[in-house]
Amino acid sequence: MSATRYPTVADVRLCALERIPAFARAFVESGTGDDLCTARNTARFTSARLVPRYLVARAAPDTSAHLFGLRHSLPVAVAPIGLASVIWPGAERRLAQAARSADHPFCLSTIASMSIEEAGDQLGPTCWFQLYPTKDKAVQTDLLDRCRAAGIETIVVTVDVPVHNRREGLSRAGLSMPLRFSPRLALQALRTPRWLLSTLAAGPPRPVNLIRYVGSGASVSEEALFAFLSEQFGNPTDEADLRAIRDRWPGTLIVKGIMTAADARLAVDAGADGLVVSNHGGRQLDVAPHPLDVLPDIRHSVGGLTLLLDSGLRSGGDVAIALAHGADFVMMGRAFLYGAAAGPDGADRVSTIVAEGLANVMAQLGCETLSDLRDRIPPDGTADQPIPFPTLKLPAMDNRPACA
Ligand SMILES: Cc1cc2nc3c(=O)[nH]c(=O)nc-3n(C[C@H](O)[C@H](O)[C@H](O)COP(=O)(O)O)c2cc1C
Repeated sequence: MSATRYPTVADVRLCALERIPAFARAFVESGTGDDLCTARNTARFTSARLVPRYLVARAAPDTSAHLFGLRHSLPVAVAPIGLASVIWPGAERRLAQAARSADHPFCLSTIASMSIEEAGDQLGPTCWFQLYPTKDKAVQTDLLDRCRAAGIETIVVTVDVPVHNRREGLSRAGLSMPLRFSPRLALQALRTPRWLLSTLAAGPPRPVNLIRYVGSGASVSEEALFAFLSEQFGNPTDEADLRAIRDRWPGTLIVKGIMTAADARLAVDAGADGLVVSNHGGRQLDVAPHPLDVLPDIRHSVGGLTLLLDSGLRSGGDVAIALAHGADFVMMGRAFLYGAAAGPDGADRVSTIVAEGLANVMAQLGCETLSDLRDRIPPDGTADQPIPFPTLKLPAMDNRPACA
């Protein structure tokens, strides 16, 4: 994808939306309830301010970051996305390849359409596995054992799905799993023939890592697989569950979905090596606050523990804002997904947009290293300007670049 035609993630998004059916757009963009949290997530970054320093000697910005013993060229990981192949068949592979070329950690979802074994083989220690704790603990234990055997060293336990979300956006779009083409969905798919042909060739999106727990190979029906998924996940996780996972998992343990200092302390007591401060991209609780607003309290309660942040980041500037507010690293979900749908090199384009944007913002701010960003928060009271809601402005659809 060319840099001049797609200078921002908003441009990549418009290209992606041209290529995918309306129901796939609902799958990626919808949140829960009235979708207010998803809208607030991106708007929150537009209200943050960072102040520049000019009259100081400085070298070119160094955007690299250490995380759990590895150095990465950017403080950015690809967030776990379940059934990413709804957006584009093989999306997980595109995301994994882009992560490998740009040196991002890639987090494979429990309900990915790519196997643990394939992802671990391709990426080694930069492949993380996101675990939804399962009702049947034997399944969870087996998933962890498979991760170890596949060379995965980091797991991310998601704790912010105590119940399934109500998926109002998906029901409005007429989408349910397994994917079945009702006349309405078929009509939408026919309008995006490249998506349709690729999906027909690849087969419907399925949580491939779960198949073996339902039955053997081809005998497993789509219905049985998704019934298993729905029955096993969407349970509350408590400190005892985290301790049990800690006892079983010798590698790095990150807990995702922490939004309070009290939960942060419980997770640390249970043995977490890092936390992701996240509202799940607005997909679980419509009234949830933004991670930036709870981060200072959490940072205060856990001291120097590694903190990642996600929900709403779409640019290098957003990454700078997250780090300035106290995060060590970020995850990005939808930004990379748009890239995966926009074309074979779309996720690489997103990575470049974020890398160049972060380096440019750091240079504008007079920051040589990521830790310098912490000094760029304006004096009290002016850091975050309240803005009218809704604020999200995207390039006008009729001015959008034609998709390559
Ligand atoms: C389509 C979609 C599927 C997701 N699936 C998962 C998942 O399987 N596990 C998980 O922990 N988070 C999942 N998330 C949440 C992301 O990991 C991440 O927290 C969120 O996307 C961050 O917000 P952003 O999309 O605005 O960057 C999903 C998000 C989206 C958009």
